Order: sequence, then C-alpha cells, then structure tokens
Amino acid sequence: MSTYLDHAASTPPRPEARAALASWLDAANASSTHAAGQAARVAVEEAREAVATALSCSPHEVVFTSGGTEADNLAVKGVIWAARDRAAGTPHLITTAVEHPAVLDPARWLAERGDASLTVVAPARDGRVDIEQVLAAVGPRTALVSVMSANNELGAVNDIPGLAAVLAERGIPLHTDAVQAIATLDVEVAAWGTAALALSAHKFGGPQGVGIAVLRRGLPVVPLFHGGGQDRGVRSGTFATGLDAACGEALTAAVRDRTDLRERLRTMTDRLAGALTALDGVRRNGPVDPAQRLASHVHLGIDEVDGGALSVALDRAGLDVSSGAACGSGAAKASHVLEATDVAGTPLRLSLGWTSTQADVDRAIDVLTDVIPSVRARTAGAGARA
Ligand SMILES: Cc1ncc(COP(=O)(O)O)c(C=O)c1O
Repeated sequence: MSTYLDHAASTPPRPEARAALASWLDAANASSTHAAGQAARVAVEEAREAVATALSCSPHEVVFTSGGTEADNLAVKGVIWAARDRAAGTPHLITTAVEHPAVLDPARWLAERGDASLTVVAPARDGRVDIEQVLAAVGPRTALVSVMSANNELGAVNDIPGLAAVLAERGIPLHTDAVQAIATLDVEVAAWGTAALALSAHKFGGPQGVGIAVLRRGLPVVPLFHGGGQDRGVRSGTFATGLDAACGEALTAAVRDRTDLRERLRTMTDRLAGALTALDGVRRNGPVDPAQRLASHVHLGIDEVDGGALSVALDRAGLDVSSGAACGSGAAKASHVLEATDVAGTPLRLSLGWTSTQADVDRAIDVLTDVIPSVRARTAGAGARA
C-alpha cells in the first residue's frame, strides 16, 4: 500500500458521498414529471440547498457543473461574453499568472479571438497576488477580474474579501477559483463579496466529474451549453442526480469538519516541513506567514536533484506526491506557477487531506530522508538542476 499525500490532485470520497452516489445511480431523469423523476429532482434541489447553506449564498445562485474546469470556464467566458453583448467595445479581463489552466487558458483564448483584452498580473515571489497590482491594471472597460483563492501548487492564500471590496467600489465583479481553498479555508460567498466562485467536488471528498459554479444574483452570464434549458437555462444537460447529491453531502461534511481538519493538518504539515527542511538543500516555498498559506500543502524546492529520477524513486518507494513538473525524457520542466514566482530547485508538493494520518507523515519523512540524498548522489552532475 502506498502512502497518499496528493490530496490537492484528488482526495478520496467521504462515506456520505459514496452512499448518496450509490443510492441515486438508478435515478430517473430529474426533469421528468412522473414520481420517479420528481423524486430525483427533489434530491438535486436538496443538494443545491445544502451547497448554498455550506457556502452562505442562495440556492438560486448555485449551478452544478461537470467540475472545476467547467465552473471556471462558465464564469470567465460567460461573464465576458455577457459584457461584450451589453456594451460596444471589447471587454477587459484581468487575471493572474498563477491561475489554474482552467482560468488562464479560457482567458488567453478569449483574448486570441478578440473577445476580450487581457491583463495577466504577475504574483509576488511567494505566489500571492497583490491587490494594488490588480487595481493598477483596472481600466474603464474592465468587466471581470479572476483571482484564485489559493494556489494549487504553492498553497498561497489570497485576500479575496479585500480584493472583492475594492473592486465592488468600482462596480467590477470578481470571480475566484476556490477549488483548493474549500477544504481548509472558511469560504463564505456573502461575506467574501465575490460575484462568481468555482469549486470541484473531488477536492473536498465528493466524486470526480461534478463541480459548482456560484453565480451571484444579477451577474449576467452567457451559458456555455445550449440544450434542454436545465438549471434556469444557465447549464443545459440532464441533471446528474447521483453526482449532485454526493457533491451536496460531501460539502456539508467537509464544512462541518473543516475547523478540526485545518488544525490537524496544520500540525502535520508543520512537522513534515520542519523535518524535511532540516535536510541538506531543501527549502519550503510559498508564503512564510501560516495565515497566508493552506494548512494542507507543503511545497519544497530541492537543490541538485534530478526531478525525473526523484519522481521514479518516490513512486518505487510507494510515496504518492506531486512533482509539480512535467517530466519528459527525464528532464524536469518548471510549471507556469514556478516560472511566474521564480522559485528555485526541483519542486515537490506534498498535500494532505481528510484521510491523512500521523503515520503518513512519519512514512513520508522516512522515505524522503532516505531518497533525496541517494538520488542526489546517483544523479550528481547528470542533469541535476539547481
Ligand atoms: C485550482 C484549481 N482549479 C481548477 C481545477 C480543475 O478542477 P476539475 O478537476 O474538477 O476540472 C483544479 C484541479 O486540479 C484546481 O486545482
């Protein structure tokens, strides 16, 4: 059995989510008027209400999607297209260089086809986004700002309520990708003041293939999908009753347990980071202030170790972590996040979640204490990157 410390990539489903998914596998079409269809519809609407309660928003503002990628695309493209349809001239979109591709790619695609002009704001070295830098980019045509709540690689947490407040003064909606934040941060839509927010169920103990777009009342959005007109015409397609029900159950459980989980993970990640940064040539990346980084993430920069060889050795040792790098032909390629933040060393992300234990942390420390120096010795001078 391997030790799984890759919860930022996907965290296991919670029992409540498994049970809900199983019980609605045979669901009728939730738009059918017969009793079986209406029973499924009740399940979808109850899930929507559970999500709204968990996020402090109205059920009318909750749209179920196929995941975080669709939720981000819906917010970014949908709001920009609605702005383009409303006013003459090209709308302006602001985002940051450390966003997930689910935001950055649609933003660049909109700009390439002339649907938006785009400003991509650079982050600080710790991966956080400076509000003043965003404000400096605002112009008369700015129709949307999209800034992630917390970065998936470095775990850097942004001041979303602060940013939403200054943008609201200028009448500019803020979309935030809260996919990585939701498991350990108190994401509250009303208090945060965000116009749109994206979540993915498989990051908070729900199944893969379902997500949430919160679109506040009054925010004009052009749909991505046209068809049967489900979800108030914003997202056509037969309701995924089982996935939606499981998503609602998982989010309720995740929010119920969140404060305890945050404390537990903070203790574990601090111990992990403390032990690993005591090793030669190993640094912790991301914000130094614990309030500005996720309790779940430890991002390391490791000197003089080949990324490809390290990945292979950790996989062999049964430690499931993320290299944060695409390894083609054995050469580690820095991600866009690490390039934007100028972080040095071979990257390694360890991310913990609701099933993580002290034993997982002990094992990770043992494995890395052994593997880092041995891979370094073996690959010294053969493609190691500083
Ligand atoms: C910050 C962030 N946004 C969006 C996504 C995409 O979510 P999904 O896998 O549900 O499409 C991810 C997934 O890794 C993510 O980490």
